[in-house]
Amino acid sequence: MITTETKDAIIPHQVLKGKQALVVGIANEHSIAYGCARAFHELGAELAVTYLNDKAKPYVEPLAQELEAQVFMPLNVSTAGEVEAVFERIKQHWGAIDILVHSIAFAPKKDLEGGLLECSAEGFAQAMDISTHSFIRMARLAAPMMPEGGCMFAMTYYGALATPYASELLEKHSISMVAPTSLSKQSIDAGFHAMA
Ligand SMILES: NC(=O)c1ccc[n+]([C@@H]2O[C@H](COP(=O)([O-])OP(=O)(O)OC[C@H]3O[C@@H](n4cnc5c(N)ncnc54)[C@H](O)[C@@H]3O)[C@@H](O)[C@H]2O)c1
Repeated sequence: MITTETKDAIIPHQVLKGKQALVVGIANEHSIAYGCARAFHELGAELAVTYLNDKAKPYVEPLAQELEAQVFMPLNVSTAGEVEAVFERIKQHWGAIDILVHSIAFAPKKDLEGGLLECSAEGFAQAMDISTHSFIRMARLAAPMMPEGGCMFAMTYYGALATPYASELLEKHSISMVAPTSLSKQSIDAGFHAMA
């Protein structure tokens, strides 16, 4: 069992003090993004947190308050201008960021229900746009705001393995493994790291 004393010995306190992190993908306390944000907060980072829309806001707002998030904004990556607005606000507030967490995924319900052969091109494209290409859009805006380097995280799960079901393929969005891997190659000169 990891006691507080053991944890303190393993993880130095406040190693992220003075670092700023944008965390995208908190829906509730079970979200992977919430776990990331809480860990960053415990380690001393300052946070910017987004919520999907007005329906999601009441669930996310108490968590953002608990995490003492300095920036709390709506972000639907499918809504034109919202990604840019978040980065603009962060630029005004902090000027730079050190960490980006992209922990979002979506696929239309009808495309999750059938087998892969039933998956529509539109549904597949929407899933890839929200779950994967939005990471590239965010990385493009985040990179110039990491002048001293930084880390960008995206989530995946054995995405490159073959899977018999469209739902599994879409939920595990295999392409999401490719984006961070390719970005990480590009990022060596740019000074940031991209990970999945
Ligand atoms: N839960 C798992 O077992 C698992 C395993 C591997 C990978 N992942 C990946 O981890 C990430 C987070 O999943 P989770 O399990 O925490 O689920 P979750 O439902 O808590 O998080 C998904 C988030 O995506 C957000 N989202 C959906 N559409 C969006 C849009 N258009 N714009 C902005 N945000 C949008 C939702 O608001 C939600 O906050 C996803 O990318 C998921 O594919 C999850």
